[in-house]
Amino acid sequence: MFSRDSEGRATVAGRPLGAILDAAGVTTPAYVYDLGAMEAEACELMGAFGEQPHLVAYAVKANTAGAVIRTLAAAGCGAEVGSAAELAVAVRAGLTPDRLLLSGMGKTVAAIDAAISSGDRGIRAIQVDSVDELSRIADRARSLGRRARVALRVNPGVMADTHEAIATGHDDAKFGIAMRDLDAAYSALGRGVADLELVGLGGHVGSQLTRTDEYLEGARAILAIAAAVPSAVRRPSADGARLELVDFGGGFGIDYGDGCPVRPADFARAATLLVQEGMPGATLVVEPGRSLVGAHGSLVASVVATKRSGSRRWLVLDAGMTDLLRPALYGARHRIESLDAAPTSTDPTWRVVGPVCESTDDFGEFSLGDPPPSRVVIRDAGAYGYTMASHYNGRGFPAEVFVHADGRIATSNAHDAASWIEGRSAS
Ligand code: LLP
Repeated sequence: MFSRDSEGRATVAGRPLGAILDAAGVTTPAYVYDLGAMEAEACELMGAFGEQPHLVAYAVKANTAGAVIRTLAAAGCGAEVGSAAELAVAVRAGLTPDRLLLSGMGKTVAAIDAAISSGDRGIRAIQVDSVDELSRIADRARSLGRRARVALRVNPGVMADTHEAIATGHDDAKFGIAMRDLDAAYSALGRGVADLELVGLGGHVGSQLTRTDEYLEGARAILAIAAAVPSAVRRPSADGARLELVDFGGGFGIDYGDGCPVRPADFARAATLLVQEGMPGATLVVEPGRSLVGAHGSLVASVVATKRSGSRRWLVLDAGMTDLLRPALYGARHRIESLDAAPTSTDPTWRVVGPVCESTDDFGEFSLGDPPPSRVVIRDAGAYGYTMASHYNGRGFPAEVFVHADGRIATSNAHDAASWIEGRSAS
């Protein structure tokens, strides 16, 4: 957990961040992750389901580090993956096929094949994103001599109150099967019944949801569709041909500094009640990414320059949009604070920017003192931080430091600037 010690120094897992970087032997920019806090986050969420059969499928796109996936897997999570590479990373982290879901709208043959051929009967479910995809998956299953376990990802027609780029459950969204196309999907399933096994239904209405109602609206829509699935395409089972799982997606919001009135457990409890009523006995799947890891990663950066132009004071960091894209892409605000001194409200304001050649490489205005600190911490960067990093401007990827629950510190710094120079020069 991010905190401050009695001397005002920023701490993670109770240890000063500066000391963690020294112990890890890395320089800035560097992500520091608190694995113990991620584990606690997963346990709190899992506890909210009570006796309800459930699968917390961690959306690995939020943070693909093996140490993170292994931590969450050990806490009982599965994984939702969006590509063959993410599937491979999840498998290498020790996740068994029954705890894996594949989603995404442009699935490659490699991803589909890997999903179908995992273990004895493939992964738990391939989340089918379109009617056309059903026949592609059926073809691959036939070639591989297996039956693919599929779940339909339905677009429930819900407009979530979040940034428009991450609202995905409305009618114009590029993801999922529109409700009006469900009959076509059932026909395609009927045609492919020898190669496809319909195991469930799901949806994902959006990300960074700070209230439960839209999530539950999506959940109700999915349950209503599940109740009306034609028996011809349902999987026969002893108790009358019900679907095995229902998946309401991820999207649980976190507090980026403006508050977040709901906890992930609130979504889980409310969703559990709906499933117990509408689809008793089915496994409830949720796919949280951000809420498991976002608050438990910090990006530490050094100040490389200050600049005054006109009335503005600029503070230039060695971390920019290539390390943390969210401010440039969504106008997202992440709290930025001094590494070694607690913020005070009387501090002068700096416009904090990265060094990258883009005007949107801008983190916003922050009170940081005068003179400003030599190092800062960018908070709540554990989700969609490193995974959205790029090499633009020839920048290496930031270092990553993992603080394990037992105090052990590990690093991974496989993509530094030197390897970028090597790779580009060799082309
Ligand atoms: N399931 C599906 C099918 C998804 O598309 C996503 C996120 C999740 C689960 C996990 O959602 P979460 O619990 O993390 O909200 N880069 C953006 C977020 C993009 C989310 C993409 N899909 C950001 O930085 O805010």
